[in-house]
Amino acid sequence: MTTPLYYVNAEPHMGSAYTTIAADVVARFQRLRGRRVTFVTGTDEHGEKIALAASAKGQAPKQHCDGVVAAFQELWRLLDISYDSFIRTTDAKHEAVVRAMLEQVWQRGDIYKANYEGWYCVGCEQYKDDGEMAPGNICPLHRTPCQERKEENYFFALSKYQRQIEELIEGDASFVQPAARRNEVLGWVREGLRDFSISRAAVAWGIPIPREPGQTVYVWFDALFGYASALLQDDEAPNAEALAAVGWPADVHLVGKDILRFHAVYWPGMLLAAGLPLPRRVFAHGFLTKDGLKMGKSLGNVLEPGPLVRAYGSDAVRLFFTKEVLFGQDGDFSEQRFRDTVNASLANSVGNLANRALNLLHKNCAAALPAAAADVPVDNPLRAYAAAQVEAAAAAYDGLALHEAVEAALAVAARGNLYMAKTEPWTAYKKGSDADKAAAGLNLVAVLEAARIVAVLLSPVTPRFAARMYDALGFEADAFNSLRWVDAAWGALPAGQDFPKPVPLFARIEGDTFVSEAAPAKALATAAT
Ligand code: MSP
Repeated sequence: MTTPLYYVNAEPHMGSAYTTIAADVVARFQRLRGRRVTFVTGTDEHGEKIALAASAKGQAPKQHCDGVVAAFQELWRLLDISYDSFIRTTDAKHEAVVRAMLEQVWQRGDIYKANYEGWYCVGCEQYKDDGEMAPGNICPLHRTPCQERKEENYFFALSKYQRQIEELIEGDASFVQPAARRNEVLGWVREGLRDFSISRAAVAWGIPIPREPGQTVYVWFDALFGYASALLQDDEAPNAEALAAVGWPADVHLVGKDILRFHAVYWPGMLLAAGLPLPRRVFAHGFLTKDGLKMGKSLGNVLEPGPLVRAYGSDAVRLFFTKEVLFGQDGDFSEQRFRDTVNASLANSVGNLANRALNLLHKNCAAALPAAAADVPVDNPLRAYAAAQVEAAAAAYDGLALHEAVEAALAVAARGNLYMAKTEPWTAYKKGSDADKAAAGLNLVAVLEAARIVAVLLSPVTPRFAARMYDALGFEADAFNSLRWVDAAWGALPAGQDFPKPVPLFARIEGDTFVSEAAPAKALATAAT
């Protein structure tokens, strides 16, 4: 599975982090399921846009790229991104792959020279049709005028693959997801595919075309092959056998909706021409917006992920964007809503659940579990509910309904809190008989087992929080590190397990220090009291 390879014209913003967080959640879930996962990410470093960014800083392109790539890698570290391969399109092995692929496509007779005239958006690195621009030849995404260009370029004969690509999108309903996006792609394909230019005469920062070194390879014809180079060793040829041995084709390319055409139409065409198997699925998510506009470097309305993660931790950031932005649709950010969501989910709902139960046991049962989770009857309502939610969460993760997976996990915590309120174990400890106390102990174990299951279900999203929960329940680090999805089944907490002195699992976010926007009056007032 892959994220896009990010442009390094500027340091990463929350929009770039968004795709990567989602991919990491999926990767962690699939690993829990026991699947072999190769999670590919990386950077897209050639082309005009990057060259311009470098020269604006007075730097050589490679020097500029090295700096920005370091910032991406640092952010992925902060966000606990567990990628397996990071490919830079300036890596020698990638450049060799692009040359090999280009030659293959050339030999097939799919590349020809022609004159091109059109409107180019450097931000998109794409020629735009009349219908794709706002009046005045403005790019609607970047809000800047497109430039009129006339060049002699090499073209890729995408139109030759019209029938195959149409059959692919029509015949395989799951190739492009979600369904609304698939209809959009079908529309483009049915309009008729046009050949596109794959070389640039005027851009020096790129991979020179071996047959004509005065031209460089167009960034998209370069970067998409990064998904293949990421899997190969230095000097390994990109043939179908070598790639199949290391996981090709991708099960899913996760992309933003702005680059869907490249992944769902151009990329299959390129692979057909190169003789390589096609990916199984392309999933397009929506945009993070600020006041309704796509958040982006070009518009200057970005949310900086670094300060957010440093202030609130990776779990909080990962949880908010997974839970609150329906995967596939646009979503807006506000720091107040972010705080409210994280507090409600991690501090109040899940954190409190475990904490209250552990505190009661600590006071009344000498810090050891009085019963085993397996002793809770199968028809116990909390147990039965948790089992159903585990199924729901698995189906949601598998279907990339990531927000639903989080909701399924949190629903178990909510039900656990309700169970606590109904069974009132504290009353039995205060004035109940021995039998009442034993029942209260079993109820508390049920609540803790539910909290443990929530930790397993949430572990792809909030790995640190989940690890702390395991710790609080008295497990060794090994138990968490070797966790599998089957461990979400009821019954893992053993009788007599010692647990450490309870400490809050998630400290409520409070105070008036907002990192991305001015603190609203309400937060200031609360902080002052
Ligand atoms: N370099 C190309 C991808 C090449 S893949 C072989 C590119 N890079 S990008 O940095 O501009 O965008 C990378 C990803 O970030 C895209 O999936 C894009 O949708 C995503 N996002 C950029 N801004 C975004 C938001 N404001 N919101 C959500 N995701 C957005 O395109």
